Amino acid sequence: MSHSKTKNERFGRSFFEDNLVASVTHYPSFRNAALLVNAPYRDASLSIDARVDDLLGRMTTKEKIGQMALVEKNSVIDTSDIARYGIGALLSGGGGNPDPNTPEAWREMVENFQRAAQRSRLGIPLLYGVDAVHGNANVLGATIFPHALGLGAAHNADLVRRMSEITAQEIAATGVNWSFSPTVDVVDDVRWGRTYETFGSDSALVSNLSVAYLKGLQSQSVMGTAKHYLGTGAMAWGSSTNPSFRIDQGATFIDEAAMRAIHLPPFVAVIDAGIQSVMVGHVSWNGVELVASHYLLTDVLKRELGFEGFVVSDWNGVDEISNDASLAVVTAINAGVDMVMLPFDYKTFTSDMKYAIDSGAISHNRLNDAARRILRAKFSTGLFDTKLIDSPAINTIGSAEHRAVAREAVQQSMVILKDTNILPLNKNLSHIVVAGSSANNLGRQSGGWTVEWQGIDGNWIPGTTILDGIKNAIDEQTTIEYSDTGFFSPRNERADVGIVIVGESPYAEGVGDNEHPELSAEDLRTIANVKVISKKIVIIIVSGRPLDIRPYVDTWDAVIAAWLPGSEGAGIADVLFGDVPFSGTLPVEWGM
Ligand code: GLC
Repeated sequence: MSHSKTKNERFGRSFFEDNLVASVTHYPSFRNAALLVNAPYRDASLSIDARVDDLLGRMTTKEKIGQMALVEKNSVIDTSDIARYGIGALLSGGGGNPDPNTPEAWREMVENFQRAAQRSRLGIPLLYGVDAVHGNANVLGATIFPHALGLGAAHNADLVRRMSEITAQEIAATGVNWSFSPTVDVVDDVRWGRTYETFGSDSALVSNLSVAYLKGLQSQSVMGTAKHYLGTGAMAWGSSTNPSFRIDQGATFIDEAAMRAIHLPPFVAVIDAGIQSVMVGHVSWNGVELVASHYLLTDVLKRELGFEGFVVSDWNGVDEISNDASLAVVTAINAGVDMVMLPFDYKTFTSDMKYAIDSGAISHNRLNDAARRILRAKFSTGLFDTKLIDSPAINTIGSAEHRAVAREAVQQSMVILKDTNILPLNKNLSHIVVAGSSANNLGRQSGGWTVEWQGIDGNWIPGTTILDGIKNAIDEQTTIEYSDTGFFSPRNERADVGIVIVGESPYAEGVGDNEHPELSAEDLRTIANVKVISKKIVIIIVSGRPLDIRPYVDTWDAVIAAWLPGSEGAGIADVLFGDVPFSGTLPVEWGM
């Protein structure tokens, strides 16, 4: 039977029917494939536990081990290794895009990997994970929403659910079925480069918005992951184990009462909402690496909280335990890690695990428990029963409807830090000037985890800049001038208002750790240039966290926190000029 299926034929069959075709094509024993057609684990009318029991009972030790491997897609040079090693999950790390980076290429890439999994003996589908933390932002053309800190400022759970539902549609349209989100960390020290990935420092708000985010993913059969367990938001400055960072991948020293009162509740909330995976952070607590903490991973998370999904380690996270890779794997699995984000060497992982099982260093009970949790998550997410035709159409990606919701999220995330009764601005002022490093820069609006891991400075993605929004909002009689540096030709008459849009260049994770987050000298010069030619000055700050503006704020007439608004910068003009009222509140303290 030819393997080259027509488009509609490919989309018309369930995962299993494709698997049968693949099995017959690739396994001489038609009998084996035929026997599996009616296997209980393929029967969607049975309970998930019954299907898991049946499938687990058919699996070899090697196949169970394979399900525990999470591999970065570029490491799979020969896709037949997916069946050969029974790999259970793949990921695209930040920037792990196909070339070209188009929705169609994403879908073809993921489907190729799934077809390779269909050719495995039992045809267990892959989980394919991405960091869709503010839209499916790896994909060029996707709708880019405000990062989580801005959603914390909007403090609107229904909006977050709607945003996440759209994100899940744009994820599923590329064939991907897993997002490493929501981040449920409760941030304490805003010098941390991951502050913007959190909903803020209020534990209850983080819980509320994390549940809303998860419900949006679940509505589109995309599996979510709560990260980074546990207490990652409370790491101490200067404790990083990574020489390039200062606080990220560091240590938390708070007592257990504080850990349980502040950092555990968001995990409890998303577990109660049915989350299927929890990611362990690059963090230690009182000297013990989380990824090696049997107390927190098994006694607390699995036994006390009753978490029935699977625990996945972070990128190279298991290696933090020991330089002896096999000892590290044994320690992490026995502590309670079920899936290891390797992310590269699945061959060594497989042999180390096989040796550990054969030697008894890891028990068969632990192996079965890990495999069971992973399979249960796959069945619960619908991986075995989803027809590709059910995936949302690719043209939903970046659609006008989706961008309209992103614009609404931008509107609601704006926070007034200072106003001397000049906001909102009048649309028919006679003359305004606009300036600043972040006025006409979609990359700075979007921040990290956008197309590339560290984001992309400049206008490389579709969307509307803040400047675009201002130009479209003002009256056609209004004179508007723009200069990114604030240098304008000499004039006698000062502008009615100068709007200066400044802030941070993109960063992600520890690259963004900053001992004193503040405006750059370039931004301060731009503000000074605009101030002398304007009657009033409004500063808009595009940043992943509060910046220290105390030395200057008294000389400004109004200041707005815009956070990292994403691709729909027009949402800022909507509130700046009064079409929509300001409603944002601070998700973290901003010293003024
Ligand atoms: C990173 C991050 C984690 C992310 C993972 C996969 O190191 O810590 O948040 O989900 O790797 O990209």
